[in-house]
Order: sequence, then structure tokens, then C-alpha cells
Amino acid sequence: MHWAIAISFLLLLLTIILRLTWMNKFNMAAIIQEYLSTTDQVLSEEQGIALAKKIRQPMWDWHIYLGYVLVGLFSIRFTLPLFGKMKFQNPFAKNLSAKKRFQKGVYLVFYLCVEVSLVTGLIIEFGPKDLKEPVEAIHKLGIYYLLAFIGLHLAGVIIAEFTDQKGIVSRIISGKKNKDEND
Ligand code: HEM
Repeated sequence: MHWAIAISFLLLLLTIILRLTWMNKFNMAAIIQEYLSTTDQVLSEEQGIALAKKIRQPMWDWHIYLGYVLVGLFSIRFTLPLFGKMKFQNPFAKNLSAKKRFQKGVYLVFYLCVEVSLVTGLIIEFGPKDLKEPVEAIHKLGIYYLLAFIGLHLAGVIIAEFTDQKGIVSRIISGKKNKDEND
């Protein structure tokens, strides 16, 4: 479950990075316009952008496919606690150390943000047209929490590996249980 979600997120992030950088519609339109001007052909900026979007589309389709994969994976993830598996951690529970409270709090905020991304993504695809613009604006903010979470998560794992949870990296790779998994 962990790796299916992690790999899907990293691939989804790749689609976002490509869209914001190499496959940015304005950059691509400028390249197309520049090339055509050397062949005595003229293309308006609008036409250049329309062409750039068509070139980008097969790459961007993967954002949507991965979005559906994540909807499926998170539906399973959020159903598992009902069967007593992969229970959600409560950051407000009593007697937690500040570190544990922070760790559980980060997961809670992350899951809430993921829910918002998935629901807004589905609304963009299937929802009413007049909602598209405001919902898109919320959906696009997803890049900030995604990058922040990946950074915090990697830093947390590295700190844990070198302090009080030695072997955490090999345990998450091998799937072996931690002796204090319910912490
Ligand atoms: C946790 C999951 C998701 C995250 C973090 C995420 C993140 C993003 C981000 C950051 C953008 C903006 C890219 C830019 O600035 O150019 C974007 C755009 C988009 N996403 Fe997602 N997304 C997720 C899931 C989904 C899902 C489930 C769907 C639909 C099935 C979806 C459909 C779209 C569409 C259609 C756009 C383009 C909006 C536009 O044309 O401006 N996304 N997504």
C-alpha cells in the first residue's frame, strides 16, 4: 500500500513538474513560433498555445490516470481502518510526546489535503462547468502541500533511521512489522 501510493504520487508529481517546466505551454508556444518565423510562416500566440496544449495532452493524460489510481488507492486506504487494519493515528490522543503529536498531526493534515485534491480533481473532470474555474484554483495549490509533505516525510524517515528507529527504511522496504507499530 505504502509503495503503491508513494510511486503514484511521485509519477503524479512528475506530470506536474513537466507541465510547469519543459512542457509549459508558453515556453513550447514560443519555441514553435520562433521556429516557424525562420521558415517564413507566422503563427499567432494563441495558435502556438493551442498547438502546445495538443503536444502536452498525451503527457497530461497521465496526470488524470494517476489521479484515478490514487482515488482507488485512497478509497482502499480509508476503508482499511474499518476492518481494524492501518488504523488512523490520533494526534490529539493523551500522553503523546511532542514529536509523536507532530508526526501524527502531519499525517492528518496530509490526508485532509489529499482528500481535497482528489475531490477537486474529480469535480474538474466530472463536475458542472461553472465550478471549474474556482475549483481549479484550489486544486492547483496541491503542489505546495505535496512538496512540503515529501520533504518532511523524507527528513523524518532519515532522522528516525539515525536516532531511535534504526532499520525503519529496510522495514518499510521488506514489509516486516515494527515491534512498536501501534505507537
Ligand atoms: C492528490 C492528488 C492530486 C494532486 C496533488 C494534484 C495536483 C495538481 C496540480 C498541482 C495541478 C496544477 C498544475 C499546474 O499548475 O499547471 C493539477 C492540475 C490538474 N489536475 Fe490534479 N492533482 C491530483 C489529483 C487529480 C485527480 C484525481 C484529477 C482528476 C481525475 C486531477 C485532474 C487535474 C486536471 C484536469 C488539472 C488541470 C487543470 C487546468 O487545466 O488548469 N488531478 N493537479
